[in-house]
Formats: sequence, structure tokens, C-alpha cells
Amino acid sequence: TIPIFTTIADYRVWRRQAFKGGKSVGFVPTMGALHEGHLSLVRRSLAENDLTVVSIFVNPAQFAPHEDLGTYPRTLPHDLELLEAEAVPASTAPSSLHTPTAVFAPTVSEMYPSGIVQNVTEQKGTFVEVKGYGHQMEGMSRPTFFRGVATVVTKLFNVVQPTHAYFGQKDIQQALLLKRLCRDLLLSHPEPQNLHIIPTARDPVDGLALSSRNAYLTPEGRAVASTLRLALQAAQSAWAAGLSKGESIEKATAVVDAKGKEAEEKGLGVSMKLDYVQMNDAQTFEVLDSGVKRDQTELVILSGALYVDKTRLIDNILLGDT
Ligand code: PAJ
Repeated sequence: TIPIFTTIADYRVWRRQAFKGGKSVGFVPTMGALHEGHLSLVRRSLAENDLTVVSIFVNPAQFAPHEDLGTYPRTLPHDLELLEAEAVPASTAPSSLHTPTAVFAPTVSEMYPSGIVQNVTEQKGTFVEVKGYGHQMEGMSRPTFFRGVATVVTKLFNVVQPTHAYFGQKDIQQALLLKRLCRDLLLSHPEPQNLHIIPTARDPVDGLALSSRNAYLTPEGRAVASTLRLALQAAQSAWAAGLSKGESIEKATAVVDAKGKEAEEKGLGVSMKLDYVQMNDAQTFEVLDSGVKRDQTELVILSGALYVDKTRLIDNILLGDT
């Protein structure tokens, strides 16, 4: 069975052994409630490294006071079962000093020895901020989110000391911001080029991006949840056909409006509210000017967030990625 470390001290004993053998350590940070999206990251890490560490930690610092910290799904026993099923048997692992997978599941006080309060203005202690890259897109609606993410991931990197780390494209701003953090802080565990971004795992039928928060959806909500994906695809087609950024975004909002009306007429008892759809330069995160067209840009993040009832869903498409 997979070793589970709940204290930093115990984990460090294990990690020191791995250092001795010069083994590669792949790391998949998560907040648990694992699904196929997380597991796709785990599989990549298992395939590319001697050892794989998965962390499961619901990080209070990335939740605003009004957000869902209290109700965020916590399913540790099931998470462990899923990871057991993925674990490569020790005998067939690239080298077999260790069980190839370990779980780091610390407590809040272990990760925040100076304490953590939800109200940022009252917070004391050390935090990590990637200035200039955390206020656009997801940061518009969640102004303290990336500070919480950058802080906890820095701490996790310090403890886990991975040679490689795996993040999902589903949270593209997070992954790119963390790559920048590794560069700016001159981290060597992992080196910036060893932070890997893995494509978004989706529902095979309607393309909904898999997410732990999908568990909040009612059946009616689940039935319309792929609207965000459809909206982004409408903008993607318009953009590819040569329409401007402004026109492409309009196509996306029209899809949400139409689906919202349809749901209302059918009396589905589900509400949809677009938080944002936006197109940003993938390097600078600057919002593209409304008149800009495909030929005038490099890599662009087309992203959005949609409330289905109270559940906030996010998705994105990288334009110019091929
Ligand atoms: P969490 O939402 O649990 O996601 C953990 C990792 O899984 C992230 O890198 C995320 O992008 C990836 N992931 C989630 N859904 C995915 C999908 N459908 N396809 C591919 N990858 C997917 O992101 C976090 O946790 C936290 O912010 C964390 C980085 C752990 C810091 O607390």
C-alpha cells in the first residue's frame, strides 16, 4: 500500500533516501476529491519518474471568506483507493528501492505554522505573490486566489523537493504563473522547464472539463454545464475564421444567453450566469484589444467562468497552440 505522510518531518526522511539514489521525483499537487483529470497527471508522472508524490491538501489561503472552503469535497479514503489502483507495482517500477507512489496529506497547522485566517487584511506572516500575473482572468473575481496558490505551492515544493511537477491546463493561469514563480525565485526543485502542463481531461460525452466542483451540480445543472465549453468553442471558431477578438467574444456570450433562455423555457429550474469570457496574451496575461485578429497575435488564452446555480465552473482553450 501507498505510504501516506501527514507530517513534514516523516516525509523528509523518505525524501532523503530518494536523494541518495539520485532518483527523479514527480509531484502532483492536488486538493483531493480526485477524478480522471488528476489521475491523468499522476499517470504522466508515474511514466516519467522513478517516484511520484501526490499531495492532498485543501489550502485555506486560496479561498476567500465567502467561498466554499467549508463544503469543498473531502474524500481521502476514496482518493487513496484511486491512487492505489494507479500505483505501479514496486517490482516493475523503473527502480524498486521504494513504493513508486507516496501521498503527502498534511494538516493545516503543519503547512501554516504561523496560522492562517480567511481575512487577508488581518493576516500576518510570509506570503508569495507573483505580481502582475494574478489579477487578470481568474484573479478578477478572486483577487487573493493566486497569492494563496503561489504561497502553498512554494511551501509544497520546499517540502516535496520534486525534480518534476505536473499541472493541468484546466487551470492555465495557475500553471503559467507557477512556471514564472519557479523562474523568478530561481527554484531548482523543480527547475522551471520541468514544470509540465497536461491537457484538460474532459467528459467523453459532452466535453465538460472534469473538476472536483462538478460534484456540486444537480442533475439539471450537470445537463447544461457544458455550455461554457460550447461558448468557448464558438469564440474559437469565430477567431479562426478571422473575426476580431470583440466579435469572437460576442459569439461566446450569445451561446450562454441562448442556452440560458432555453433552460428557462423548458422550466429546467437551473440558472446560468456568465462570470467572464476573455482573451489574454499567454505571455503577459494582458487583455487583447477588441479589434485584434488572429494574425496579429501569438499564443492567446481564451478563458471563461460560468456559474451554474451556485457552482463556479472554469474552462479555457489555447489559441495559436498548433
Ligand atoms: P486541484 O483543483 O485539486 O487540481 C490539482 C491539479 O489537477 C491542478 O494542476 C489542476 O489543473 C489539475 N486538474 C484539475 N482538473 C483537471 C482536468 N480536468 N484535466 C487536467 N488537469 C486537471 O489546482 C489545485 O488543486 C490547487 O490550486 C493546488 C495547485 C493543489 C494548490 O492548492
